Amino acid sequence: MRIVLLGAPGAGKGTQCKRIVERYGLLHLSSGDILRQERAAGTKLGEKAQSYMDSGVLVPDELIVEMMACAINKAPAAGFVLDGFPRTVNQAAQLDKSLAREEQKIDAVLNLEIDDKVVTERMTGRRSCPQCGTVYHIENLKPKTEGRCDHDGAELVQRPDDSLEVVQNRLKTYHQRTEPVVNYYKNSPVAPAFYHIDANKEADKVSASIFESLDALVSV
Ligand code: AP5
Ligand code: MG
Repeated sequence: MRIVLLGAPGAGKGTQCKRIVERYGLLHLSSGDILRQERAAGTKLGEKAQSYMDSGVLVPDELIVEMMACAINKAPAAGFVLDGFPRTVNQAAQLDKSLAREEQKIDAVLNLEIDDKVVTERMTGRRSCPQCGTVYHIENLKPKTEGRCDHDGAELVQRPDDSLEVVQNRLKTYHQRTEPVVNYYKNSPVAPAFYHIDANKEADKVSASIFESLDALVSV
């Protein structure tokens, strides 16, 4: 199964992807996480991406498309779930083209729909594990021990692009550049199953809606 998870910054893509991969045995491919790993490793790509990420705008398509094609190549036969990619209509079209070369296609698109004001509340309280990527929230999704990851005990960190000013830029970028990807998939000749998910709800309810949609697809 090949899935795309769309949604604004803070919609819960990372949180829900962790749960999806556990349930269906897929590979989680987050373009943002891969970029942050490249930065931490001090690669050329990481260096090029830094200023775009820090100001909350998109990294150029040509850098992202190649990076994600390499990551997708390593996915197991069970498939993958894409988190934060594609984020422009051009990225979506390039992805379709490269999958078609392997006689593959996207099977399902989940659109996590959320109000802008909820996003702002979530981002400022987010904490994540630098080792395994698990995401927490200081109020909504607390770790068992304050400041430590439940899985590996690592000290949780705050993302530098979660300041109010950068979050507002990321939201603006999302509405201008990424929202059109919804219509791209709805009108696509490849016709993936398309699901609207209310992401304003609490995390377990959002997971339940996602699982209901995907379980039906898997059992077809
Ligand atoms: P990226 O890392 O993808 O960031 P994003 O899309 O802005 O999304 P986030 O990771 O911030 O949010 P999320 O939806 O994963 O929410 P989360 O689960 O963490 O991208 C970063 C940057 O990289 C971009 O700005 C860009 O520069 C660049 N980039 C990446 N991909 C690119 C691409 N394809 N093209 C070009 N540039 C690209 O949840 C957020 C918080 O809310 C957490 O604290 C969580 O605990 C909490 N939470 C989650 N769900 C709920 C819930 N239901 N109720 C209450 N709290 C919840
Ligand atoms: Mg994320």
